[in-house]
Amino acid sequence: MENMNNEIKVYKGGPYLFTGEFKIVMPSGEVKMVKDPHLCRCGLSKNKPFCDGSHAKSDFDK
Ligand code: FES
Repeated sequence: MENMNNEIKVYKGGPYLFTGEFKIVMPSGEVKMVKDPHLCRCGLSKNKPFCDGSHAKSDFDK
């Protein structure tokens, strides 16, 4: 299997941490190259799809 160094870690009450380099295509079509992106799971980030730390001020605990 290729890319065995890639990993997705799910933080309880926090984001997904993707390990590796990713090309993220935004809804506008803009392409962002991001290393080790933290992606929001709680829905509260003001910088979606990225985590901005807002989960810490919520009761999100999944
Ligand atoms: S998981 Fe961090 S802001 Fe949503």
